[in-house]
Amino acid sequence: MTDVAISVRDVVRDYRRPRTSLTKPGSVVHALRGVSFDVARGQRFGIVGESGCGKSTLLRIIAGLDQPTSGSVQVGGVEISRLPERRLRFLRAQLQLVFQDPMGSLDPRMRVRDIIAEPLVAQGHRDNISRVHELLDAVGLQPEAADRFPHQFSGGQRQRISIARALAPDPRILVADEPVSALDVSVRAQVLNLLDELVQRLSLTLVFVSHDLSVVRHVCDTVAVMSRGEIVEMGPIGDVYDTPAHPYSRQLVAAAPRLQAALAGRTAAVLAAETLAARALSSNASSRNAVSRNAADSDPKPTPPTPEQTTPPPKDAP
Ligand SMILES: Nc1ncnc2c1ncn2[C@@H]1O[C@H](COP(=O)(O)OP(=O)(O)OP(=O)(O)O)[C@@H](O)[C@H]1O
Ligand SMILES: [Mg+2]
Repeated sequence: MTDVAISVRDVVRDYRRPRTSLTKPGSVVHALRGVSFDVARGQRFGIVGESGCGKSTLLRIIAGLDQPTSGSVQVGGVEISRLPERRLRFLRAQLQLVFQDPMGSLDPRMRVRDIIAEPLVAQGHRDNISRVHELLDAVGLQPEAADRFPHQFSGGQRQRISIARALAPDPRILVADEPVSALDVSVRAQVLNLLDELVQRLSLTLVFVSHDLSVVRHVCDTVAVMSRGEIVEMGPIGDVYDTPAHPYSRQLVAAAPRLQAALAGRTAAVLAAETLAARALSSNASSRNAVSRNAADSDPKPTPPTPEQTTPPPKDAP
């Protein structure tokens, strides 16, 4: 039994774009250009990088939903990169995925009980309702949710249903592709905390993709920074966050708002604008205060709080 849950070696994935000329073949996109890393059992491995850098391509290959052009991927010591779909059934029991868009990944015509039980039925288990209730409870939903349809839930609740379905076959590895990015601001932290708690309680190995380093920091212990199909830096998340070595990681860290702001969907640029506005407000207020102090000799008013001061400190606050 190996301690390595996932081993990725020299993975290359090229896509050919559709041809736009009769005489020339379509150009090639180098989505992954030789990616290698190991994820140990129980590790929480984050992958960050800009849009289009190859994060989802890498996850699809790890989950056996796509095949690399070259290179190898082992899950639980089994080489999966050359296996045909019908031989990947063992992988579905070990590794499950949660996607960004819960509405898109849940069949609108199915009741929640059937959605969650689907992976169990695929494994030949028939009477699943007690397991469905157990899973609903684990993700913080009432048993009555089993009889309803996906459109009768909020975005955050739908993502909870996706998580329940992913956990149904009792996988050892959970792979999440931007699981909170499509959610309403008010529920991002709740879903992130739920994932965090479940991974801990069930001793799962987690592979978590996000374009946002601060969100990854909240749930992962290790991070790989990707740029243009390559991993440019990898290490314990605190090290990469505090002392990024690669210029691209430095850019990413500089652009990363603190978790609370990221969860609120505020970018560094928006935060900078808000801070400037707060400062302007503050200096206007102090000049007004100066006038009123002269007039009434009152105490100076406190400076208006900056946006970050108005929110409770995040888990990763320095
Ligand atoms: N099926 C495909 N056919 C052609 N090109 C593709 C295909 N899938 C992905 N690509 C290209 O591969 C590159 C990597 O795409 P990928 O979806 O992995 O990026 P990503 O890092 O997940 O981006 P995002 O953060 O926007 O989700 C992109 O240039 C994309 O256009
Ligand atoms: Mg993606």
